[in-house]
Amino acid sequence: MRDITGRKEMEKKLARSERLATIGEFSSGMAHELRQPLGVINNSVYYIGTKLKDIAQEKVKKHLAILDKEVKHANRLISDLLDFARVDEPEFKDCHVNPAVEEALFSVEIPPNIKLKKELKEGIPMVHADIYQIQRICVNLISNAVSAMPEGGCLEIKTDEDKTEACIEIRIADTGEGIPKENIEKAFEPFFTTKARGIGLGLSLSKKYVEAHGGRIYVESEVDKGSTFIVKLPINPFLLKKKNTAENKKLT
Ligand SMILES: Nc1ncnc2c1ncn2[C@@H]1O[C@H](COP(=O)(O)OP(=O)(O)O)[C@@H](O)[C@H]1O
Ligand SMILES: [Mg+2]
Repeated sequence: MRDITGRKEMEKKLARSERLATIGEFSSGMAHELRQPLGVINNSVYYIGTKLKDIAQEKVKKHLAILDKEVKHANRLISDLLDFARVDEPEFKDCHVNPAVEEALFSVEIPPNIKLKKELKEGIPMVHADIYQIQRICVNLISNAVSAMPEGGCLEIKTDEDKTEACIEIRIADTGEGIPKENIEKAFEPFFTTKARGIGLGLSLSKKYVEAHGGRIYVESEVDKGSTFIVKLPINPFLLKKKNTAENKKLT
């Protein structure tokens, strides 16, 4: 009896991963096709903006700003879809986490009603990581934190070394709407979203990336109080691996 349930579970999982792979392939094709016309729209908006800079009415300027914002939003969705479908191996290099966090902060617009508190610990060890993926993780977590605080609030970003777990910790905390208990696990699944204009890939991608680094990601959250996302990246998984295999050899 137990065997059959196990097999059914496996089949379900397999069907699900096949379905996701198909969605991935389809979306990446679509995303590529859409990126080009969006690029053209973006250039035109920019051109019109420079030509009308001094003479346009406020209303025209407002609409140009809307166009610009919407193109950016569409581009972000496209990047998520492309990242979701990408099968590239990560490019691991020894790197510092703090500049990746800074870079991510630079690329997310933080509205003036959100106070930013940043504590990036200096002198923490490097991680063996794909810097692009670390940046994407931070961009996703920061954007989510910002959207969780439409009325404003406090965004806190910290990095530190966790000596007991031999890892670097990135903490991104907000004082926003929080996540109800029943959604905490679902939030990390692809295409789960509670947003009218969300795509639901940010957290699942972040989880995929963190796990490719041998790390883990989790959230502590309370409805109406806020959420803290914690990312732990091992300081040097390869050295640890080498040490393990050496120890295994000794054992055999
Ligand atoms: N900081 C946060 N505060 C509250 N809810 C969050 C936060 N981050 C993620 N969530 C929840 O998890 C869902 C999935 O997030 P994500 O995978 O980034 O997709 P998206 O942002 O497109 O909805 C969100 O729709 C939201 O319900
Ligand atoms: Mg998101």
